[in-house]
Amino acid sequence: MRAQVVIIGAGPAGLLLGQCLLREGIDTVILEQRSPQYVLGRIRAGVLESAAVELLERVGAAERLHAEGLVHEGFDIAFAGGRTRIDLAGLTGKSVTVYGQTEITKDLMDARAAAGGKTLYEVQVLPEGFDTDKPRVQFVHGNKSQTIECDFIAGCDGFHGITRASVPAGAIRNYERVYPFGWMGVLSDTRPVSEELIYVSHERGFALCSMRSRTRSRYYVQCPLSEQVDEWPDERFWAELRRRLPEDAAKALVTGPSIEKSVAPLRSFVAEPLRFGRLFLAGDAAHIVPPTGAKGLNLAASDVHYLAEGLVAFYKNKNSVALENYSARALSRVWKAERFSWSMTKLLHRFPEEGDFGRRMQLAELDYIAGSRAAQTALAENYVGLPY
Ligand code: APR
Ligand code: PHB
Repeated sequence: MRAQVVIIGAGPAGLLLGQCLLREGIDTVILEQRSPQYVLGRIRAGVLESAAVELLERVGAAERLHAEGLVHEGFDIAFAGGRTRIDLAGLTGKSVTVYGQTEITKDLMDARAAAGGKTLYEVQVLPEGFDTDKPRVQFVHGNKSQTIECDFIAGCDGFHGITRASVPAGAIRNYERVYPFGWMGVLSDTRPVSEELIYVSHERGFALCSMRSRTRSRYYVQCPLSEQVDEWPDERFWAELRRRLPEDAAKALVTGPSIEKSVAPLRSFVAEPLRFGRLFLAGDAAHIVPPTGAKGLNLAASDVHYLAEGLVAFYKNKNSVALENYSARALSRVWKAERFSWSMTKLLHRFPEEGDFGRRMQLAELDYIAGSRAAQTALAENYVGLPY
């Protein structure tokens, strides 16, 4: 079997890259470890920068997004019993769109199937020879071992994937920060507590009020990493969330049975570089952000934008400059989003080891943001997404 580009991983990054290349007539195969149902079963954030929406439009996968997505022109930061609205549209002229990642993945799967793109699910892969000009991918699908010869391999297989792990240790440098807490998340078919998202900094810890639609809510509370979900019946979760919300939100909170409940760790991670010969890393395979800044999916989109630009120039114009520049271009935007996500996490979460002085520094910064158009503008332009 042969393809011009083999994409490993059928999450948002792999599927989006597949669409960008397919529409330019570049022959791709996507190899995914899990079943389509498993991939679609993942509950992940979905706050899209306008640039990511435009990319989905370009690849013909934004119809449902525009029909069902919620355009948000601001969000609230709540602390010390009050709420401050960050007016994204007024400060930056841009908005974000709330639309679950599961829906984006489904739309991309449907778009790929409609375009006749080839995706093999439930395969075990082994990328080889990406340090030569004849890379290939060995894989087992349905107990049959096969090999795909290709020009390039795109590692879109997430943080725990095989592509970054296949790079010799001496050729890659990892930067990481693991946070000393997690997020307990609940999905419920209840009306969201507010029209827009509320990020809460409370003495008891961070909380976030988000949503998937006008009838499906997504809530999080900061918790110790050791917390076990089965020790948190719904009533306990709702009571804890209410204690952290400002009074008006606590009163407005509509509770109901959780349809999903889980604890996720928080991590900042970047691998450098993002290219190893004929192998390119994109999305979570290359970097991880704490979800506080809602950047994970959006960085996957900007990586794909840069990588697709490079591959199209290579195949259409026999020009390799954009491919050579992929790693530096993508990492420049990645690091700025890592900084923003890290700073939002530091600002809004309780770090007991920082003591009372650390808490007063957080409250002083929150109070400064609440009173400064300049500070709110800086926050807003990072949240809506820096230019590609
Ligand atoms: N072989 C093939 N596929 C693999 C392998 C492997 N060895 N390892 C992992 N995969 C698949 C996973 O099953 C998953 O479907 O690669 C895909 C990676 O998808 P994601 O983890 O969603 O990563 P990405 O596509 O980069 O999307 C980033 O997902 O994790 C969120 O917050 C993150 O929103 C961001 C988005
Ligand atoms: C979510 O809706 O899951 C979500 C929204 C915004 C974030 C993180 C998660 O910053």
